[in-house]
Amino acid sequence: MAKWICTVCNYVHEGEGPPDVCPVCGVGPEKFVRAKDEAAKSPDGDSPEPETLEQVRDAAREQLLGICGVYPACDGQPDRLCQREAYGAPIGLGGAGSGASFAANYTALASLKLKTRLVGDHFDPDTKSRFCGLELAMPIMGSSTAGPSKYTDGMSEEAFCRATIAGCRSVGSLSWRGDTYFYTEEEHPALDALEAEGGAGVPIFKPRAQDVLKRLIERAEKMGCPAVGVDLDGCGSTIMARHGQPVYRKTTAELRELVAATSLPFVAKGIMAVEDAEACVEAGAKVIAVSNHGGRVLDSTPGVAQVLPEIVEAIGERAVITADGGVRTGYDVLKMLALGADAVLVGRDLIRAAIGGREKGVALQMTQLRKGLSRGMLMTGVPTLNELDRRVLV
Ligand SMILES: Cc1cc2nc3c(=O)[nH]c(=O)nc-3n(C[C@H](O)[C@H](O)[C@H](O)COP(=O)(O)O)c2cc1C
Repeated sequence: MAKWICTVCNYVHEGEGPPDVCPVCGVGPEKFVRAKDEAAKSPDGDSPEPETLEQVRDAAREQLLGICGVYPACDGQPDRLCQREAYGAPIGLGGAGSGASFAANYTALASLKLKTRLVGDHFDPDTKSRFCGLELAMPIMGSSTAGPSKYTDGMSEEAFCRATIAGCRSVGSLSWRGDTYFYTEEEHPALDALEAEGGAGVPIFKPRAQDVLKRLIERAEKMGCPAVGVDLDGCGSTIMARHGQPVYRKTTAELRELVAATSLPFVAKGIMAVEDAEACVEAGAKVIAVSNHGGRVLDSTPGVAQVLPEIVEAIGERAVITADGGVRTGYDVLKMLALGADAVLVGRDLIRAAIGGREKGVALQMTQLRKGLSRGMLMTGVPTLNELDRRVLV
C-alpha cells in the first residue's frame, strides 16, 4: 500500500491513490504527493546512493515531511506548506511573514523572458567562471545556509555542511556556508566542516559582536578559505539573541574594521539597496552579495532580480556582484547574469539536494543547473560568459 502526503497540512493517506479530498484540510488529490518507500528514507543509513535528481528529491520529500513539499515549483506561494510564519509557525524553509519577499524573488525571475537566437556559427557554450581567484566550472555556487539538521532526523549539521562543500567542489564549484543560533564560537559546524574539507568554501557569519566576528574570521583565514563575509541582513534574526548570541546592524566604520582584520576578500551579503552597496564598497568589501536572504528576514521586499540592475549600475567594476533568491534553473542563472551578476547562488534547492542525496545529490543539482545554463547560452547565442548581457532578455 502506498503512502500519500498532503502537501498543505501533512496528513498521510494510505491507499492505491491519493484521496478525493484531504480529511484534515479539505484540498483535492492534486495537492498530494506520493511518499517514497522506507528504503529511500535516511541518507545517514544504508540507502543506496541516488542516481538521479528525481530520486534525490523524492528522498528529500520524505525527510522534510511537514517542512517542505519539494514541489515542482518552489515559489513561496501562500498555500505552500512552508508558508506559516505569519501565524507563528517556525520559519522552516519558508519566508518571513506573508512570504511575499520569497515569492517576489521567484516572480521577478519568472517575469523575465529569454530571447531565442539561432542563426550564426555553432559553438559549445563555455560556462567557466572566476570567483575570488579561483577558477570555477560554472558561475553558480551554493548559498550560505544553516539549520537543516533541525528539520530532519537523518543528518547532522556538520554532515549537511560537508555534503554541500564536497558536492559543489566535485563539480568544480564552491559552497558558501552559513551561521545560525546553535552555531557558537566554540562549536561551529560550518567551520568544522570547512576545516575537514580543506577550507574549500566561503563562511558567511551572522553580524555578531565585532570581537567574536574577528576571531571567527581569523579561524577561516587560517584554514585557507578563499573569502569570508557577513550576512548583514542577519541583524534581523531574533532567534540569535534568544540563544545568547546577539546580532547587530553594522556601521561603515565597523565594516571597515572587519575588512581590515583579514587579508581575504570580504563578502557583504544581504544587500538590497544602492546606498548599502556603496557603503560596503567604501568600507572595502570586495564582494557585494545582492540578496534578501531568500525572503526570510523582511516581509514585502522586491525580488532580488528587481533591485539587481540598479546596484550593478551603481557599483560597476568596483566589486564582484553576486545574486541569489528564487534561482531554480540554469535559465534563472542566465537571467541573473544578464542583469549584471558576476555569479549566482542557490539556497533551498541545494538544501533539498543535500538532505535527499548528500554530496551526490548536491553534485546532481549543480550539474542540472550548469546544463540548463549551457543550453540557455546556446539558444540565446552566447558562447562565453563575457559576451552575456541584457541582449539575451526580450
Ligand atoms: C533554511 C535556510 C537557511 C538559511 N541560512 C542562512 C545563513 O545561515 N546565512 C545566510 O547568509 N543566509 C542564509 N539563508 C539564505 C541563503 O543564503 C540565500 O540567500 C537564499 O536561500 C536564496 O534564496 P533561495 O533559497 O530561493 O535560492 C538561508 C536560507 C534558507 C532557506
